[in-house]
Amino acid sequence: MPAHDVLIIGAGLAGQRAALAAADAGSTVAILSKVHPVRSHSVAAAGGINAAINPEDDWRSHAFDTVKGSDYLGDQDAIEIMCSEAPGEIMHLEHIGVTFHRNDTGHLDLRAFGGASMKRTAYVADITGQAILHVLYEQLMKYHDRVDRFEEWFNTSLLRDDSGRCVGCVARNIRTGEMRTFNAKSTILATGGVGQAFKPTTNGLICTGDGMSLAYRAGARLMDMEMIQYHPTTMTANGFLITEGARGEGAHLLNAAGERFMEKDAPNKMELASRDVVSRAEQREINEGRGTGPLKDSVLLDVTVVPKNRVLEALREIVNLGRDFAGIDITKEPIPVRPGQHYTMGGVKTDINGETDVPGLYAAGEVACVSVHGGNRLGANSLLDTLIFGKRSGQHAAAVAGSMQMPKISDAQLRDDTRHIQEIIDRPKTGRRISEIKEELGVSMNQYCAVFRDEEGMTKGKEIVNRLQEEAKTAYIDDRGTVFNQDVLGALELGFMLDCSEAIVTAALERKESRGAHSRTDFTERNDEDWLFHLTVSQDGEGADAPAKLDKAPITFTQWEPMERTY
Ligand code: FUM
Repeated sequence: MPAHDVLIIGAGLAGQRAALAAADAGSTVAILSKVHPVRSHSVAAAGGINAAINPEDDWRSHAFDTVKGSDYLGDQDAIEIMCSEAPGEIMHLEHIGVTFHRNDTGHLDLRAFGGASMKRTAYVADITGQAILHVLYEQLMKYHDRVDRFEEWFNTSLLRDDSGRCVGCVARNIRTGEMRTFNAKSTILATGGVGQAFKPTTNGLICTGDGMSLAYRAGARLMDMEMIQYHPTTMTANGFLITEGARGEGAHLLNAAGERFMEKDAPNKMELASRDVVSRAEQREINEGRGTGPLKDSVLLDVTVVPKNRVLEALREIVNLGRDFAGIDITKEPIPVRPGQHYTMGGVKTDINGETDVPGLYAAGEVACVSVHGGNRLGANSLLDTLIFGKRSGQHAAAVAGSMQMPKISDAQLRDDTRHIQEIIDRPKTGRRISEIKEELGVSMNQYCAVFRDEEGMTKGKEIVNRLQEEAKTAYIDDRGTVFNQDVLGALELGFMLDCSEAIVTAALERKESRGAHSRTDFTERNDEDWLFHLTVSQDGEGADAPAKLDKAPITFTQWEPMERTY
């Protein structure tokens, strides 16, 4: 049984940054992930990473933009940390080999992004996440003496000792079906978001809320779960992301009449208002019949107004996406887009060092809610969040691990998880298929918990989620083997997504106002008097059937009082 000072579950940017920080501090580290690390979803982060590195900029301006973007739900202490540490982190990345774009004077170039008061997004064309991920993976190799990589291992449970402390996890080797415990003094979740609970989504197939659900089942609170980000420019055909970098480079959004409708909503920032504002404007155009396409369910992103040489240099990935998946040369004609699920602002509640409610358990990146994004995340703040809070979690987890003995664990959870998987494999073919339930979940969440919401729709959504939770208990799979049994993983992932979906609809029904990405047609105004707090969701009792319980948590204010948001 492997035993390490620090166990990290998930090997995207947050996980790898945490691993490097813990290894730098001298800890032994196990980093476990269900896909090869450079296939983690961070690879899809396109447009860039924010930092106030322009001499005319100031991290406080970045912090204020982030607070305003969050619709005053973000915790300002965490936002101050993220924005003030950002320039140093960019320099660190540059020094270890990330090939950020440079301008004609040889300095790091910065592009405009939504909700920002000046250009502050460093980038590598439109493959920024991929570029950083590969460099971090390369850096991990330096620590082969103390970092063990467990690639294609699937986490089934977190382990807790008698005192309730998290002491590692149980996982399944995807290649062989072997089940094993991983013993650790500190455990960090870095498993990403839960976009796959929505259909369509920009998220990869691996984004199934694993860490959120496992932490929830282990007793941690989830926070801000009602805050789901719809990205304004996803391809109508399939939900793929067209980077905000396109609008940062000057692309326009047009309705069927060829109007730049953002004039009505954000006369100053236009297409570069924050994402919640732009998505709502698009959805309104579509709902009011000014959409384009055969179903009038899209608006147009016009990249032709950006000089072609700049598009081919800085936006080459979306040129490929347009050509390969829509048959459109975006340098010559506009591409149909619409708002699509992109990000979960909520997640496992943590403090500024990544500590959750469960002793010994940390969370960083999209799985976590620090909360730096509050009601709405600014584009290009997610890569920053993964790195800053990945690093801080790794450092803190290593420091704690340095002062304790390896905790003892029993095999009871390993036996339970092994039995549960066998029970899934042995189910008769009388229930529904896993894929069918997942499809219904995705379509329903996208219908009832989308850009605009109301009581009636969300109540229906919650009933559907609760019914699917029952149906999932008898859902069957076809593959009964041990080698790369993706069916088994699909069944477990469905359980994770249903936990998260229940938390999302429960919190969304509760918040009776409109704030950030949570826009209710039955409570259209932000209501600071009654709703200026976070909502948390936890399991009321032990066991898979324990209902969701709601509570409030205070928002941390440091220097910015809530104001009306205008762009
Ligand atoms: O549009 C984008 O490039 C996405 C960036 C982000 O979500 O931060």
